[in-house]
Amino acid sequence: MSIKDSVTEFFSGLKNKKSDTFVGIDIGSSYIKIVQLKKEKGRILLDTYGSIALGPYQDEGFSGQLTNLEAEKITEALQNLLEQANVTAKSAVISVSSSTSLIFVLKVPPVTEKELAGVIQNEARKYIPVPLSEISLDWWVIPQREMYDTAGVPTKRETEVLVTAVRNEVVFRYNTIAESIGAFRDVRLEIETFSAARGSLKHELSPVMLLDFGASGVRMAIIEHGIVRKFRAVNRGSAFFTNTIQKSLNVDFAEAENLKKQVGLNRESPRQEVYSIIQSGMQYIFSEIQNVIFDFEKTHQKPLSKIILAGGGSRLHSLKDEIESRYNIFTAFADPFSKASAPDFLDDVLSKAGPEFAVALGLALQGVE
Ligand SMILES: Nc1ncnc2c1ncn2[C@@H]1O[C@H](COP(=O)(O)OP(=O)(O)OP(=O)(O)O)[C@@H](O)[C@H]1O
Ligand SMILES: [Mg+2]
Repeated sequence: MSIKDSVTEFFSGLKNKKSDTFVGIDIGSSYIKIVQLKKEKGRILLDTYGSIALGPYQDEGFSGQLTNLEAEKITEALQNLLEQANVTAKSAVISVSSSTSLIFVLKVPPVTEKELAGVIQNEARKYIPVPLSEISLDWWVIPQREMYDTAGVPTKRETEVLVTAVRNEVVFRYNTIAESIGAFRDVRLEIETFSAARGSLKHELSPVMLLDFGASGVRMAIIEHGIVRKFRAVNRGSAFFTNTIQKSLNVDFAEAENLKKQVGLNRESPRQEVYSIIQSGMQYIFSEIQNVIFDFEKTHQKPLSKIILAGGGSRLHSLKDEIESRYNIFTAFADPFSKASAPDFLDDVLSKAGPEFAVALGLALQGVE
């Protein structure tokens, strides 16, 4: 089975009815975000968007908290959000979180198309800790330019293949949630990193790094010509700072969350104790980013041209400037809403909210494109 091309049809007989309206559903660990896009006369219009905190759906939970909810609770939250945002789409694209998936690049010897599947499955076994029968495996051959030796003879190089693996039970869980909502005719799934890339990139010609700074972790993807060349996830995200502040300063969750947002990486903040907590917590993340950049530039012998920031955690005070100066690479926030037409008066709001909605918008865009 593969999730790449899988479209779950909940009602047979409607297969040929083509949708022009799609809702992208990003089920994060702290918030669900949705974006509905509509294609009209070749233009992509923003119909509606919104988010809902998952914290309140768990016992004694607060808005902004990390959650690990059962499918029924997620369904309930999603249902509420779809109602609040007046979502009408019958087609949904849902993100699969990167914590439940694997993304890696394999080097395989030159083989025929026919042999490739076997070779990939064999190689993938080394990366995947469960039987292949329990996962959905997808792959994309990364196009390579012909290389020539000094005598002008083409050199045969290994083929690079981007591989993704998702457990079947995860696919099942997302489909169950979608089916319980009862409003969708068809549902597709996509691993969030690919959606974030579609929502954030603008046909950049040289390699860029996309950082999705979520509540539960930070995902780093290096993308070139629209293809993920390198991927790494760190299991430390924005919620880690809130938790550390909460414990170290003995304050409640809401106050810790506020302090995190107010102070962030602002060196000049009068709350130096908060600054130090966040600053020292960030060191691990910074060094992982450094490793990914270093590895890529060394292997591929070319520099990154840009870092794009997505996810709510990327709004941490002074983070953008800190990243820009640390790695000396131009850094910008994702502006996914720029890919859809919306009333002018929303421009400001949408560009501020952009980083958080990169995944959801990218998902909806997969549908309308
Ligand atoms: N201005 C801000 N400064 C610092 N952190 C912020 C700010 N705004 C939001 N956040 C943090 O961003 C996180 C939510 O971001 P996001 O919605 O991208 O996470 P998520 O998708 O639920 O998580 P994940 O992708 O890890 O599953 C929360 O931890 C929140 O505290
Ligand atoms: Mg997220």
